[in-house]
Amino acid sequence: MQRRNASGGGVAVLLTAIMALLPTGCDASLDVPHLTLSKSFSRALQDCMEYLQVPGYRYAEYAANSFSDDPETKCLLRCVGLNLRWWNDTTGMQTAVIEGFFHPDPLDELYENRTAECLRKELSHADTTDCCCLAYDSFRCYLQHYGNLVPCARFYPEDETRFVRAAQDCIEFLQIPHKLLKSYSAGSFPDAPETRCLLRCFFLRTGVFHVDTGFDVERLYTRDYEQPDERYLAQETEARLHKLRGSTGDQCTEVYLAYRDVLGELGRAYYEYDVLQAAAAKMTVCEVAVEPPAMTTTTTTTTTTPTTTTACPSTTEFNYKELNCQNCGRLFISNNGRVSCCRCMKSSTPFGKFFF
Ligand SMILES: *[C@@H]1O[C@H](CO)[C@@H](O)[C@H](O)[C@H]1NC(C)=O
Ligand SMILES: *[C@@H]1O[C@H](CO)[C@@H](O)[C@H](O)[C@H]1NC(C)=O
Repeated sequence: MQRRNASGGGVAVLLTAIMALLPTGCDASLDVPHLTLSKSFSRALQDCMEYLQVPGYRYAEYAANSFSDDPETKCLLRCVGLNLRWWNDTTGMQTAVIEGFFHPDPLDELYENRTAECLRKELSHADTTDCCCLAYDSFRCYLQHYGNLVPCARFYPEDETRFVRAAQDCIEFLQIPHKLLKSYSAGSFPDAPETRCLLRCFFLRTGVFHVDTGFDVERLYTRDYEQPDERYLAQETEARLHKLRGSTGDQCTEVYLAYRDVLGELGRAYYEYDVLQAAAAKMTVCEVAVEPPAMTTTTTTTTTTPTTTTACPSTTEFNYKELNCQNCGRLFISNNGRVSCCRCMKSSTPFGKFFF
């Protein structure tokens, strides 16, 4: 894989200027943009030495790429693999992730063949119940045949919940109208300016799109590691994305067209829509009018009805929710058009008892 050069023009210059103004005493490396996850191999190794209480003196040998054949080291490497998501006890090596942590020799044309051959050999006579051993042997194949370990922090994939979280954040940031949210939560994504900009925000927040350099196809490839798709890295994809860059004068539209016409079907096809649907379903917020508690004093006659807000049930519960609304005969439409009902009160104390 070849890293693309960032040709970031004005924004890069501006960023450099801002960086120069940062007060001293701050560690800029901790200032992570968006919700991107990145970590170096050695950082993951140190994490795991702490989790597994591997004595610190062993770090020196590991830092020198010497991973000896002992049970402690084997389980340490399994932990590193889980930490960086290149290892899964069920499905084994996640090649689209681990490749990012190694740098092949540019003159070496057979590194992939040798690595594949090594994996095949090691795993054919391995004890498949010993996950530490499998992870260790697989890692050694990469270390010996694929290339050198990259010392820098590398992008590694999110899990599902973080994707949904990022989508929810973007829905909030952009104040996506409730009508659209309802549509998304039903799995329908109308082509509206808000939908286009929501996609752009989601790609930005998850670190696979940059304002100044566009889509990061390598990260997309890594992100979709469960269905690695070499088409992300193909010349043709790059050419088609390049053609769209700046062609519309509106970055939301550029992202939308790139998604619709080029990227959407790659890897986990239209995965973003699944995530946005899940996020929208979670965010169809319900506001429920609650009867004021009985007053003990005689000075009552309050005119405001207290309102509480809770997360809605997921889409699968949608019909159930509306059924419950009908059953208890309470359906509220707040002034911002949000429909609420008693179903949402089920898990929220102390008012839940009024309804269930
Ligand atoms: C390992 O892969 C299986 C099957 O794809 C998946 O269900 C499981 O969540 C994965 N485990 C981890 C720790 O990612
Ligand atoms: C390397 O592997 C690829 C794909 O399996 C194969 O097509 C190619 O012939 C191999 N090259 C050599 C030199 O073995």
